[in-house]
Amino acid sequence: MKFTWNLPLDPDGIHGELDDGSPFVIRPIRATDGSALESAFARMSPRSRYLRFFSVRERLGDDLLEMLTNIDHDEHRAWVVADPTVPSEVDGSDGGLGIAVARLINVDGEPGVAEAALVVADDYQRRGFGRLLLELLIGTARDTGIEFIRFETLYENRGMRGLLSELTAVKNDKLSDREVLVYDLPVNEEVADGDGVAIGALYELLRFVAASEQSTNPEVDQ
Ligand SMILES: CC(C)(COP(=O)(O)OP(=O)(O)OC[C@H]1O[C@@H](n2cnc3c(N)ncnc32)[C@H](O)[C@@H]1OP(=O)(O)O)[C@@H](O)C(=O)NCCC(=O)NCCS
Repeated sequence: MKFTWNLPLDPDGIHGELDDGSPFVIRPIRATDGSALESAFARMSPRSRYLRFFSVRERLGDDLLEMLTNIDHDEHRAWVVADPTVPSEVDGSDGGLGIAVARLINVDGEPGVAEAALVVADDYQRRGFGRLLLELLIGTARDTGIEFIRFETLYENRGMRGLLSELTAVKNDKLSDREVLVYDLPVNEEVADGDGVAIGALYELLRFVAASEQSTNPEVDQ
């Protein structure tokens, strides 16, 4: 897949194309992304919701939305991916339809370890977005001092297990049980980005650009 960007960086994000030519835009999540996230969740199948959150839920709800969007980008980092060819269903947002999210959250008491969470909208699955998210997570982790990415997945999650089987992730027998499998991925052994893009540095830059845009634009609801 290809990433392209112009300087000065556009807070809209980094533009790219999957190998099949599908265009996408990626950027760090913003505190104002709550409505977009709730709409994307409403579009997800009950099965995908269950596989992502390990529980059956109808809505994300205000508290969880706040936790997922209002993040420090330091201990908790998150990328959102949008399809620029489809309008967002959220009023006033012109960045395209939100189709995937990946996050990396430092694990308390285990320096150098961060837990990953990822989800791709049902209509966009099996097109390579899962691999893209992993690439972003690995690049972000590598550039920000994370040594191991931890993945918790339900045993029944064939998609996630298939995706992980392509990497050198090692099953963590201490933390796994019959229903939930835990894998630790050493990031330095993975080639994060074929083009040599410093993903972590881009993450920081975009976060900075987006934050300064918000603070200078009184119309943006903070
Ligand atoms: C798991 C998930 C992130 C995969 O994303 P995706 O965009 O569909 O994955 P990709 O298209 O990049 O697939 C890459 C590879 O993973 C494997 N894979 C993905 N989905 C699969 C499935 N349903 N069954 C078997 N293997 C699968 C395949 O090896 C695939 O390669 P291929 O399509 O060339 O055969 C996505 O299915 C998802 O969001 N599911 C619901 C939420 C979830 O399970 N999140 C993870 C919680 S730990």
